[in-house]
Amino acid sequence: MDHRWPADVTIPAVDQPLRERLRRLCDYARLAPSVRNSQPWRFVLGDSSVEVWADPSRALAVADPEGRGLTQSCGAALAFLEIAARASSLTVEIDRLPDATRPELLARLRIVGEAPPATEDPWLFQAIPKRRTHRGIFSGHAVSPRLLDRLRQLAESRGAPLRIVEGEHRRRLIEQVRAADREQRGDPAFRAELAAWVDPDRTGERLGIPAHRVERAAIEAGERTRLRRFAVAPAPESGQPDRADESGASGAEQEQETDELCPPGVAIDLMIDDLDALLSDEGAERLRILAVSRAKGTGVAPGAPHPPQPRETRRSAPQRPADDDELDRGSPVLAVLTTPGDDRASWLRAGETLARILLRGRVDHLWASFLGQGIEVASARAAIREALDLQEWPQVILRLGYAGDLAPTPRKALADLLTDG
Ligand SMILES: Cc1cc2nc3c(=O)[nH]c(=O)nc-3n(C[C@H](O)[C@H](O)[C@H](O)COP(=O)(O)O)c2cc1C
Repeated sequence: MDHRWPADVTIPAVDQPLRERLRRLCDYARLAPSVRNSQPWRFVLGDSSVEVWADPSRALAVADPEGRGLTQSCGAALAFLEIAARASSLTVEIDRLPDATRPELLARLRIVGEAPPATEDPWLFQAIPKRRTHRGIFSGHAVSPRLLDRLRQLAESRGAPLRIVEGEHRRRLIEQVRAADREQRGDPAFRAELAAWVDPDRTGERLGIPAHRVERAAIEAGERTRLRRFAVAPAPESGQPDRADESGASGAEQEQETDELCPPGVAIDLMIDDLDALLSDEGAERLRILAVSRAKGTGVAPGAPHPPQPRETRRSAPQRPADDDELDRGSPVLAVLTTPGDDRASWLRAGETLARILLRGRVDHLWASFLGQGIEVASARAAIREALDLQEWPQVILRLGYAGDLAPTPRKALADLLTDG
């Protein structure tokens, strides 16, 4: 088993020992979404069980000091594992937070029998390798109310209600997300932490977000809430991996491709050295030229005077900041996933439900991305709760809509995440 992203899913053969079947299923759990792609989970394999552990070494001390996002991410991995097991005709029982003396042990999934899967399980399972976070502008197509109802029912049945935010509430939500955005952007500690998770030095680790997907608050211009589309390098074609190592390429071939897809100078320049300059129109243009020249192998060094270049990136950095309204126009649906409580059990539950919503949406070609600012900034989260008249606690803010496919984001190999217990 390696780090590659499966094109499709296959159910492990039933004549294998159960432990081996479970090992194969963990290979799908590792594809779950996680905050900053930190993949903060570990799996411990037993003869008929899998334990899901949090990995505190991947915690985000600034953006997620309480571990909410970390626990939600592990919840998503747990749900992927459960869905994979059920689609493989295995009946499961899950003990959540089973041992108060070992808080990092988040759940133990036990196989207790065999039964044909429920109708939706194989669909959700098939959607696992096809799901991605899609941060760009969504098309203007309205999301069908029936699908939204399905998602709402699904969330409700899991104990984590999903609120579709409309009208005046939507306006207030956007306002608070923007305020949170500004607050994070103004915090050097936040920017440094974000930089660490988009640092191309992490390429070898297969952790973090590829630089050309970096579209977080810290690089957004002025008072404007641009959608996260500050591309710093040409995006790979749909279906191609984001990194060379995802394709199984090796050696020099990998080096070259990695450099092309994720130009180190650009990302470092962007995130660490020259953030403010890059927020200007001139900075955006410089970034675009760097990205193009890197991709074309002409190797213009960061900071060097740049010759004019052709404008042939598939997604180029914007020439000027986008409208204030872009978040509004580019998000056919804004939704908030909530839970009645706000403790670790609630976060785990929210992550499990989130995973099911994302997969169920994907079955119907719906894409999603996150507005984490509104949750990560405590004052914004409180203001959103009040502005939306929520009794529950907001856990995840989602944009939902339709768009084209994207390449997957790298994941660690299962061997780096799984131990035999
Ligand atoms: C709890 C949680 C919070 C997230 N918050 C954000 C966010 O604020 N902004 C963002 O762009 N992506 C966010 N993401 C998406 C992750 O960055 C994404 O899952 C990760 O990069 C892996 O990419 P993939 O989802 O395309 O597989 C979040 C994901 C999770 C599970």
